[in-house]
Amino acid sequence: MPDPTVNEADLKEGARNCVLNYSGVGPGENVLVWIDRDEPPEPGVAEAMIEAAEEAGATVTLLQDRAPEFRLGERMSAATEAALQASHSVIQLLPLLNVASIDNIHILRCLFEYDLRITACMTPTRALLASEWARYPIEIARTIMRKSAGLVQDAEFHMTESTGTDIRGRLKAWPDGAGFSGGGKLRGGAWIFFPFGNVALYPAPPVNGRIVFETWEGTAGILSEPVDLLIKDQRVVQCSGGEEARWFNDMMKRYPNADYCCEITWGISPVVSLQEGLKQRACDTLLYRHAGVYHIGFGLWPFEGIWSDFHWDGGGLKPTLDHAGQRVIDAGRLLILDDPEVREVAAKYGDPDALLAEVP
Ligand SMILES: [Fe+2]
Repeated sequence: MPDPTVNEADLKEGARNCVLNYSGVGPGENVLVWIDRDEPPEPGVAEAMIEAAEEAGATVTLLQDRAPEFRLGERMSAATEAALQASHSVIQLLPLLNVASIDNIHILRCLFEYDLRITACMTPTRALLASEWARYPIEIARTIMRKSAGLVQDAEFHMTESTGTDIRGRLKAWPDGAGFSGGGKLRGGAWIFFPFGNVALYPAPPVNGRIVFETWEGTAGILSEPVDLLIKDQRVVQCSGGEEARWFNDMMKRYPNADYCCEITWGISPVVSLQEGLKQRACDTLLYRHAGVYHIGFGLWPFEGIWSDFHWDGGGLKPTLDHAGQRVIDAGRLLILDDPEVREVAAKYGDPDALLAEVP
């Protein structure tokens, strides 16, 4: 049931934040709001996005189809591709378990081929679209994004966690973190999550060590048995654990390169609730955006690494991450949240302690 306690003004504010500040919709553009036929967003969510896009002067089309499962390489229908091609901006409002369309090779091709940008929304419910996370002042979000991206260099990383994770490699960064800073108007070909945010990087080879995941995309909460992986030269050479590990072993037999460690990522948003994230089976939405929570991906990584039809993620809550001789995350605390410039920008909007406090 839709949450009746959600304030309509908050809902509109969340939708406007998405449409104007993330999607960058402007007058005369064609906007496609894409929802799933079997699992549409709650009533009022797509409508709020449509209204906000029309307010911005766009022509809006609603597409309701059976969306392909992006993470397993499924391909969209010809009709869906034609709808994407006819749009400047797509506001994707698919189920939380199917948000990561960037991990799909067919979507990547469309981004490359057409003058198209995609905003992948993690707000299928009224409560999420009206949340503090969705309404968070864009200037603070962009400052956190820019400062986080600015830390990343083409240099060694080392991540550890009390679960047993101990992994090393290099991060491959674009100069000054360009592409991750959230600044300016999106160009065609861009793909972003709404709301923010994370730092998502390709770990340049070699990557070696052990990863012990306590969370796994598709399973809500802390795993009863962790997924325990041995990584050698970027590949999974051993995978043990419970049901999730058995499933992953099966996928690695079925999909070429599903064993390839392709992504290292950490959340940077203090205002997405950790507890709400732990309730979702789609860990790679709320939970993996929470500041200091990490995840690591296997399979396809857009524009880098190797080809795969597969992409999957696991993660943990309290990593310690050292990179380029600096501590980035200290036992789950994202240190950038204490940065003086971030605090100064937050102070324009209220009490920085409150605005930068991690929502439990
Ligand atoms: Fe991923």
